[in-house]
Amino acid sequence: MPVKVVGVVGCGLMGSGIAQVCAEAGYDVIVSEVSGDLLKKGLGKIESFLARGVEKGKVTAEKKAEVLGRLQGTTSLEELSGCDIVIEAVVENLDVKREVYQVLDRVCAASTIFASNTSSLSITGLAAVTKRADRFVGLHFFNPVPLMKLVEVVRSPLTSAEAFAQALDFARSLGKTPVRSTDRTGFIVNRLLVPYLLDAIRAVEEGVGSVADIDEGMRLGCGHPMGPLTLLDFVGLDTTCYIADIMFDEFRERRFAPPPLLKRMVQAGLHGRKTGKGFYDYSQDPPKPVAGLI
Ligand code: 3HC
Repeated sequence: MPVKVVGVVGCGLMGSGIAQVCAEAGYDVIVSEVSGDLLKKGLGKIESFLARGVEKGKVTAEKKAEVLGRLQGTTSLEELSGCDIVIEAVVENLDVKREVYQVLDRVCAASTIFASNTSSLSITGLAAVTKRADRFVGLHFFNPVPLMKLVEVVRSPLTSAEAFAQALDFARSLGKTPVRSTDRTGFIVNRLLVPYLLDAIRAVEEGVGSVADIDEGMRLGCGHPMGPLTLLDFVGLDTTCYIADIMFDEFRERRFAPPPLLKRMVQAGLHGRKTGKGFYDYSQDPPKPVAGLI
């Protein structure tokens, strides 16, 4: 069945980006949040991203109006009942996600595909709370969603070949490049990225180089768009620590264990850009490395 209407649950950092790219691709989108305030904030992010696109000459004012016109917000999951595919991007909490899926499973048609944007929880475990595990996939987008080309499409042992193929086609229809992954914590990208980021923190702990030099080294030495410590600030230290804990729990390998410095920074509220400080202090332009971390 062709996809016409897309539901997105959660309009935070990832959900707003996902809703935006779906509307840009021509789908009618219904995006839900738990409160009117959060919904307004999320839709505001989309509006300001598109406005910046217009300023940069990347998006026309007509296209911006068209995209916004295809987006509808709601605070009731019931309103997602007519969607052909629902992408969930709520907080990385198993109980919260399970609750969302139980409601969706009750209100959506049997043919609706469910997709989770989780980066760390088991797709199989989430699918198991629904009566449509064969039509349940992972669609893992990357931050910032409108600019990052990749989507990991994840199948559980219960995902049907047909639903998996539909999910791959859907990702392509968004102008993204899908890669296929099985349901192992971290999928492909975080399995390789997280140990690298944690190792960069260990390098800081061991005094191998300064924060600025480690970042500059990887940026210029490997051609990365940003160094690992800048990327940690961008992703969020709390988010990274949370993902690392889950990966360590799954694989029991030291490379996934959060180093003490990461835990202390999370405890101290140094979560990166979102709190204004992490490895760098964002109150200054350009941001300056934070002193006294070790
Ligand atoms: N509308 C339309 N286009 C826009 C735009 C907007 N509002 N804002 C920027 N763009 C365009 C720019 O015009 C530019 O286009 P061009 O290449 O044709 O010139 C392009 O997007 C890049 O934008 P900028 O030049 O402003 O910015 P950068 O070159 O610094 O790129 C970035 C920004 C894409 C974020 C880059 O820094 C990057 O790739 N960083 C790494 C991000 C990353 O690794 N993300 C993954 C995190 S891990 C994750 O998400 C997984 C999770 O589970 C943890």
